[in-house]
Amino acid sequence: MMENFYITTAIDYVNGAPHIGHAFEKIYTDILFRHFKKRIDNVFFLTGSDEHGIKIQKTAKAAGITPKELCDINSAQFKEAWNLLDINYSKFIRTTDEYHEKTVQDIFEKLLQKGDIYKHNYTGLYCSGCETFLNPKDLDAEGNCPIHGKKPEEVSEENYFFKLTKYKERIIEHIKKNPEFILPEFRANEVLNQLENIEDISVSRAKSSVEWGIEVKSDPTQVIYVWIDALSNYITGLGYSVDGNHSDNFKKFWPANFHIIGKDILKFHSIYWIAILMALDVELPKSIYAHGWITIDKNKMSKSIGNVISPKSVMKDFALETPDALRYFMATAAVNGKDGNYSDVDFKEKVNADLANNMGNLLNRTLNMLVKYFDGEIKEEFISDNELNKKAEKVLSEVEKLFDKCDIQAAANCIINLVDEANKYVNDTAPWALAKEEKMEECGKVLYNVLNLMVKIALLIEPYCPNIAQSMANQLKFDINLKYSEIRANMLKAGKLTSKEEIIPVFLRLDSEFAANKK
Ligand code: MSP
Repeated sequence: MMENFYITTAIDYVNGAPHIGHAFEKIYTDILFRHFKKRIDNVFFLTGSDEHGIKIQKTAKAAGITPKELCDINSAQFKEAWNLLDINYSKFIRTTDEYHEKTVQDIFEKLLQKGDIYKHNYTGLYCSGCETFLNPKDLDAEGNCPIHGKKPEEVSEENYFFKLTKYKERIIEHIKKNPEFILPEFRANEVLNQLENIEDISVSRAKSSVEWGIEVKSDPTQVIYVWIDALSNYITGLGYSVDGNHSDNFKKFWPANFHIIGKDILKFHSIYWIAILMALDVELPKSIYAHGWITIDKNKMSKSIGNVISPKSVMKDFALETPDALRYFMATAAVNGKDGNYSDVDFKEKVNADLANNMGNLLNRTLNMLVKYFDGEIKEEFISDNELNKKAEKVLSEVEKLFDKCDIQAAANCIINLVDEANKYVNDTAPWALAKEEKMEECGKVLYNVLNLMVKIALLIEPYCPNIAQSMANQLKFDINLKYSEIRANMLKAGKLTSKEEIIPVFLRLDSEFAANKK
């Protein structure tokens, strides 16, 4: 059993506003975080913004403001979006934060002194979208960057290079020895293939070409190039110090349990970051999980197609009071590590089916029957061990195993299947018919079994839908902050549970005409 738990997201470029793709990852990570919070006492969740580099510099120039002003405006928008989505991060790091900049400079100097960073004259193909030099082998048939579809610029500069090749064999060995290091497992081969062709990487740019970056302390003509700056956030955010004088948070939480990132930046995390840590003699993270990408109506989101949507606009269009529906949809939109799709129609259908018709209605009608037949009271004789308890126990253990591999979609399916079973149980046992036949004890047992199960469902669904779960807890009168280890067979005690006035639907169907009208 782990004692401490540390999870991170990628830090977003803030040269634009947050979109649903950024939101997908933050929701994904928040769900993992909230789940592990139910298993472990000491937990830390780091997210933030990546604020240096040529793209920010250019966007700010076009807007007639300084890069820092642009970052201040946009990082505030990211924070606002995460707030709206109930992303419960422990800390938001900005790469323009002073402590971060200072530690990144120290890291650079340490690697320079060690000889792992060296100066070299270089001509290469630079993609400003990726903020990286590309290997000609990585380009598509038209000679474009495969991710951004644009021709990289030929850049000739004297830069500092990091000896990535020195660590190649150790990284290969580490990946092969640790099957949980790269998740989902099918991505590991991709990384091993990329490792075949790696070369040393450029880790600085001449200030004459990029001004907006952290200066190299011992050479002010150069700025530290974005990846070494950005990747270091995972340790500077905790309080890492090159001289070994680490903060308590660093001592407590490093190494990270999970770095959650998109598939497009897996190479930077599983190769570059790992080599940097090896060079610094810092322990390696336990797992790197690469999620897939969210498309919109099956199209890649892009400014040129004009289909970029923000989490805020979805919340507004569907008049959502809480983000739970969007969180749930995002969590179930993609099969483990594969791409997923958002469409208004799918969104509405999925949440109406699972959250309103399936889960919400079950609780609502069961509570109403308890009021109708028993004046809202649970009687001692209703409490018995039953099949649903055994099923719940099994699901809890399956869900934990799936979360250990970050497979939150399969875990959500497990939970909803359990709700399906409970619905089937109610339909099969027909408590209304039992009441009619005056088999009151039997009827009460059925209602108890379902309500008792709903306590566990609420605890399991809380990471996905914290507001719905809270509403379930209010109506079933238990503490939603219970740990999973505190789950017992029978959670509800005898006594008055509820009354007509206290019963409210936990989730109202999305009845927006919006999706249909918009098309
Ligand atoms: N700044 C770098 C990451 C540095 S991490 C040390 C970066 N920023 S980004 O803003 O371009 O992307 C941030 C994260 O959002 C990445 O993990 C990326 O994969 C993810 N996504 C961006 N668009 C996405 C979708 N359409 N769908 C899902 N995730 C997407 O890369």
